[in-house]
Amino acid sequence: MAEEQKIFKVTIDNITIDVPAGTTILNAARKIGGEVAPPAMCYYSKLKGSGGKCRTCLVEVVSGSTVDPRPMPKLVASCRTNVMDGMVVKNITSEKVIDVRKGVVEFLLINHPLDCPVCDQAGECHLQDLTYSHGAEQTRYEFERRTFVREDIGDYIQLHMTRCILCYRCIYVADQLTNKRVHGILDRGDKSEISTYISKAIENDFSGNMIDVCPVGALTDRTFRFKNRVWFLKPVDAHRDCDKCHGQVTLWNRGDEVFRVTARKDEWGEVQTLSDGKPGWICNTCRFEKKHASDWVIEGPTKINRHSVISQGHYVGNVGMIMPPDPLDKVLFGRQPHLLLDIHDVSKVNQLEVHLSELEGPAVSNTFNGDPHASGHNVTDVKEGV
Ligand code: SF4
Ligand code: FES
Repeated sequence: MAEEQKIFKVTIDNITIDVPAGTTILNAARKIGGEVAPPAMCYYSKLKGSGGKCRTCLVEVVSGSTVDPRPMPKLVASCRTNVMDGMVVKNITSEKVIDVRKGVVEFLLINHPLDCPVCDQAGECHLQDLTYSHGAEQTRYEFERRTFVREDIGDYIQLHMTRCILCYRCIYVADQLTNKRVHGILDRGDKSEISTYISKAIENDFSGNMIDVCPVGALTDRTFRFKNRVWFLKPVDAHRDCDKCHGQVTLWNRGDEVFRVTARKDEWGEVQTLSDGKPGWICNTCRFEKKHASDWVIEGPTKINRHSVISQGHYVGNVGMIMPPDPLDKVLFGRQPHLLLDIHDVSKVNQLEVHLSELEGPAVSNTFNGDPHASGHNVTDVKEGV
């Protein structure tokens, strides 16, 4: 007969719940939900072995268990500490935790540039959220930041090493989802960096999932780079028959133009678990090569947390296939805009026949001045972060 699963009682921020023995404090807190769940920059429930690297999930254990109610002497990483029966934990109710988390964010930002205005991850970056909720107004760091020689890791993924927080999630994706890992964290201490050994390209079928797990903008989608801000796009759930993955994705549209394809995410920003209990990783064909609305069967608008900046940019329409209404008619009360110019009459930029989402990289002057397919795909700087 199967052994009965032990159930432990744990209290987090004054809320008591029952969880099976072996549950971590972080997952117990996620069961309660909302602010009670500590932030997690390196733990990812769908990746075995993740967690324990970033220290953003530290909590205070004020009572270890019913049997031994002494407090734990130091803050513990909630993603790596299992609950005990009768354990009492403080997260947002602990001044110590709030203070230490502020310090952790300050450390994470020592080398991470504050380039959110030009970073494709802005609007869905966990470090950006963490900085707003726990960061200090100013850094006390006075030394030179790390710089890196820019490395090309293939056609689909852009690496910005200065933004990397060394969470290891992308390494676990490569280890656990693809059959050939060609990148890793090289060197030690403040010299550590993500690299493909001898600059090999990352090109296995599921490598694009590294973009979805990266909590910051260190790994971004090269086919979407600089094309649009996520809050100007409308996410819709869609699917297609795919022979490599389950084909269930989120499309990021403006009108019927598909700018980006990602896996569907849950409330913790992780890839959603599918109805068959498996994680919803998607293949590179769905992610990078199916950029036409006709490739997909649209299911409906993606549910976005109303506190997210992405929900602020939603425009009404038939599940993302209709362009946002032009506000001019409304503000001009039906009059013709005599005093306004059509920018296309006087400028060579922003031409309608140039489809930004179909370019290989960011638009360059030549894109609007001769070759509508020219892009900055091959433009490389010698050093990143300088
Ligand atoms: S590149 Fe992104 S996912 Fe990979 S270790 Fe750095 S921060 Fe983590
Ligand atoms: S999420 Fe726990 S240490 Fe990073």
